Amino acid sequence: MTEHVLVTGGAGYIGSHACLALLEAGAEVVVVDDLSNASRESLRRVEQLTGRPLAGFHRLDVRDRAGLDAVFSRYSIGIVLHFAGLKAVGESVADPLRYYQNNVGGAMTLLEAMRCHGVRRMVFSSSATVYGDPQSVPIAEEAPLGPTNPYGRTKWMIEQMLADVVTADPRWQVVVLRYFNPVGAHPSGRIGEDPRGTPNNLMPYIAQVAVGRLPVLQVFGGDYPTADGTGVRDFIHVMDLAEGHVRAVQCCAHLPGLTRLNLGTGRGYSVLEVVAAFEAASGVRIPYRIVERRAGDVACCWADPRRAEVLLGWRAQRGLAQMCADAWRWQKMNPEGYGASAA
Ligand code: NAD
Ligand code: UFG
Repeated sequence: MTEHVLVTGGAGYIGSHACLALLEAGAEVVVVDDLSNASRESLRRVEQLTGRPLAGFHRLDVRDRAGLDAVFSRYSIGIVLHFAGLKAVGESVADPLRYYQNNVGGAMTLLEAMRCHGVRRMVFSSSATVYGDPQSVPIAEEAPLGPTNPYGRTKWMIEQMLADVVTADPRWQVVVLRYFNPVGAHPSGRIGEDPRGTPNNLMPYIAQVAVGRLPVLQVFGGDYPTADGTGVRDFIHVMDLAEGHVRAVQCCAHLPGLTRLNLGTGRGYSVLEVVAAFEAASGVRIPYRIVERRAGDVACCWADPRRAEVLLGWRAQRGLAQMCADAWRWQKMNPEGYGASAA
């Protein structure tokens, strides 16, 4: 019987692109998502783009143990990609218990269900936020950890939980992927990032300014110790990230225990460099205003991505111009996101 890949949170931004890459690589994909921050439409489009159906979609909260048991009983699951979770930093500061409940509680229930059904391979969506304010850049996986907000602490706690699970039973094989700043969209413009309400993150904010949904970009801080005074990040194209997940699935069986990997490009761009690249890609001027720093932001954050290259044979291929061109194509073709098709 063919082993299936179970993708939690597969209808979301990164999960939908990963599902597309997995289907293109020939995998049988089952998705579990409660659609709390996503639309079913994303996966319909993934099926259209790949010409391949999902093996199953289940609208389910990963904290629903009985629901998970039914999914594990129905399919022969070989590996779980765990994307499901809440991700808004500010919201996590305002309502930390919701974040601990959903993210940490969700991971715990999922791991218990996996153990019960003898599934011991997982690829987990972690974040560069676990490094907190880095002592130096580029950041390697051994760098000290110390997230500065509840969202980041949920990722850190889950990483620790995974390490304990692997220590207790060395048959587990877990790959923790620490994403830097995922941006962009599939080049078709059919799937992309569709934040609810006003975007928190830079690229979707710029894209909504470009399309006229928002009037002006606020640049948070012009006095950082960087070349132009604005924050510097390691933006990574979501299709590069998706392909990194396919490699992680392919390599997981050969990686013993717990493996922590940065997924980034290894180079940083400032906020103003991103604005300029987006203007070049779209031909649209982006009005901006430099305002106060945003609480909790760090000046610079970029990855040392060499370990992922050694262990997965993966490295990011796409540059900033492509990230902006693809984000713009998605925004232009879907000014309201999945909008009316979102049912
Ligand atoms: P997203 O919100 O688009 O996707 C998350 C998906 O999980 C959504 O489809 C949502 O409906 C679903 N979900 C949430 N809670 C659930 C639950 N309890 N049960 C079932 N489904 C649930 O976010 P994304 O940007 O695609 O992020 C995916 C993962 O990657 C998250 O774990 C996030 O923390 C992590 N991550 C994201 C970024 C980023 O900048 N986007 C950076 C680092 C890490
Ligand atoms: N920024 C602005 N204006 C905006 C939004 C962002 O100037 O409207 C700036 C920020 O100050 C920062 C840069 O753009 O300098 C990037 O900000 P993002 O919000 O896009 O990304 P962050 O680096 O703050 O955070 C992201 C994810 C987190 C994740 C973190 C580290 O949102 O979930 O990367 O991986 F934890």
